[in-house]
Amino acid sequence: MAEYKLQVSTGYLPSAGTWDHVYVTLIGSDGKSEKTELDNWGIDFYAGKTGTYTVKTSSSLGKLLLVKVEKDPFLNFEEEEWYCSTIEVTTPEGEANLFPCHRWISREEYVELRGGRAVKYFEEDYVVLIEHRKKELTLQKSLYQWKPLAEGLLHTSSFENVSELPAEVRFRQAKAKEMLKATKQLGMKFKFEGMVGSTKKWENFDDLKRLFNFQKTPMSEYVAEHWKEDDFYGYQFLNGINPTLIKRCSELPRNFPVTEEMVKTFLAEGSSLMREIGKGNIFLYDQKKLDGIPTNVYKGESLTVTPGLCLFYLNPQNKLMPIAIQLHQQPSEKNPIFLPSDLETDWLLAKMFIKNADTLDHEAVHHLMNTHFMGEVYTVATLRCFPVIHPLYKLLIPHCKSTLDINIRGRVGLMGPNGMFGNSSAGREGMIEIMRRSLREMTYSSVCLPENIAARGLESIPNYYYRDDGLKLWYIINNFVRAAVEYLYPLDADVYKDRELQEWIGEIFTYGLLGNKASGFPYSFSSIEELIKFITMVIFTVSVQHAAVNSGQFDYYFWTPNGPLIMHKPPPTTKGQSSMETIMETLPNVGETVATSVLINQLSSKYSGVVPLGQYPEKRFDEPELTQMILEFQAELSKLGEEIVKRNSHLELPYDYLLPSRIESSVSI
Ligand code: FE2
Repeated sequence: MAEYKLQVSTGYLPSAGTWDHVYVTLIGSDGKSEKTELDNWGIDFYAGKTGTYTVKTSSSLGKLLLVKVEKDPFLNFEEEEWYCSTIEVTTPEGEANLFPCHRWISREEYVELRGGRAVKYFEEDYVVLIEHRKKELTLQKSLYQWKPLAEGLLHTSSFENVSELPAEVRFRQAKAKEMLKATKQLGMKFKFEGMVGSTKKWENFDDLKRLFNFQKTPMSEYVAEHWKEDDFYGYQFLNGINPTLIKRCSELPRNFPVTEEMVKTFLAEGSSLMREIGKGNIFLYDQKKLDGIPTNVYKGESLTVTPGLCLFYLNPQNKLMPIAIQLHQQPSEKNPIFLPSDLETDWLLAKMFIKNADTLDHEAVHHLMNTHFMGEVYTVATLRCFPVIHPLYKLLIPHCKSTLDINIRGRVGLMGPNGMFGNSSAGREGMIEIMRRSLREMTYSSVCLPENIAARGLESIPNYYYRDDGLKLWYIINNFVRAAVEYLYPLDADVYKDRELQEWIGEIFTYGLLGNKASGFPYSFSSIEELIKFITMVIFTVSVQHAAVNSGQFDYYFWTPNGPLIMHKPPPTTKGQSSMETIMETLPNVGETVATSVLINQLSSKYSGVVPLGQYPEKRFDEPELTQMILEFQAELSKLGEEIVKRNSHLELPYDYLLPSRIESSVSI
């Protein structure tokens, strides 16, 4: 007689428990156990509970390979899914094996857990496990399928509704409810005030400040007070919601004929534009990517999205100041270069049109496509190509948590018939075109922060906290990934011959980058170094980069003039004709403003169950070495957190979007 001791843990989640009958069968190299019910005195499976059970066999099963888990109804109760987190089995020989589960299990579902150390395909020793691996991947490939988001766009999962999602990747119910509550609460307040659907214009900025009666943050109030100021305008291109756009300007573009005469009064006394360019103090934001995109139609008239150019000057006080704006690419009499010395409302309108185009690009490309949808590409490839015992599944799956779920909701909320895209100046088609063009231009180096910063010549510009925090985080993640990958793949040959890994990167290249070799993205791996860089980029993108472009949405966009999605009037074509009335007529109306506000409030609210970067509450690795690496990763993040808090305590405007404790481990909001 042999006895196996089982520690069975139910996840610490609402509704994780079950009254159902749960059975296990242990499968070893020398045989298998009877199907054995896990049944002690009292309630066996409730949230957070770990129960101890015994499975008896006539003799040792040899090497323990699989644990089969089954669930049957209790009496006539309705289906009660069970969230099993782990099963730890101690063999009669005294060997402890961890079988991670971390998923919901429903009735009549086939669940066979693999345990022990991570194993690559070519390391499998048992035919039964090779067969299990094949069967698992066949099932995963049938469950998770690719589908193009739109013509010329990257592919995402084919699910159209969250109810279609397999249990293992479903959103936590509690969070879905909290999100709905946040939306309803603010939506109801606006509705009560008759603001929902209202086509009324805001009368003036004081009228618009009524928004703060409903919701506010210290930063959203700061934005409302300072959004017109040129130094705060410039600050936002370094530390605002879209911080990766401006480039150091070594030569003015030919289509942006700014003259010395135009800008000399905004430069240091006695200096010149040429001299400041030479000193590296001139920066450019060029929106040419947006030139000629389709635009929305409002009351029978086509709206305008301006593909502008904005020149910035880093002044002797280290402030980045906008000094010239041209709203279209081709210079002409009807396309003047606006200056800070122009009529106040002309200059303000010029800055607002640049921000409008920037907001569209931010939401469609830098937020949605580059983090949410690329995150989904990495998630779907991981679920399709790696079995759960694969080391990179264990490393990456915590960074894929909830991404499919939030993206399906996002596709409806942003790209659906009444979504944010349709209510923008570009309209749905225009926004998709912006994404299409951006995907064609996407390069591997642009998504690797150190190279991104260097390519834009922003290594030394002062007060660029996004860069400072982002680079530190990049290297902390890189150190962790390096330690883990070098441990899991001791030789380059291990990388090269891991066919599941090669398939994974091949799918990402084919379905994410549409096979574009000019992007510089890898389509296969031949060395440990290549793998370390790519995994670093994946984890950085879905955690740090997403936090940078997501978390400040309420702060920066709640005050609509600072980031309008829709501009009802065309941009000025001559100077001296605008007034405050023009600005109020140009801005989104009351209904449009509150619709956006409800959405960004939902996307910026705090919810329960958040897993910060570096936290791995679901134990997946059975290797003590990996546990130690995670502890070191956490320590590095914690140290950086202290540095950021200290730095922020000296700043008028603290930059805390990249505070490690605020960064979620995956794209899940
Ligand atoms: Fe997001």
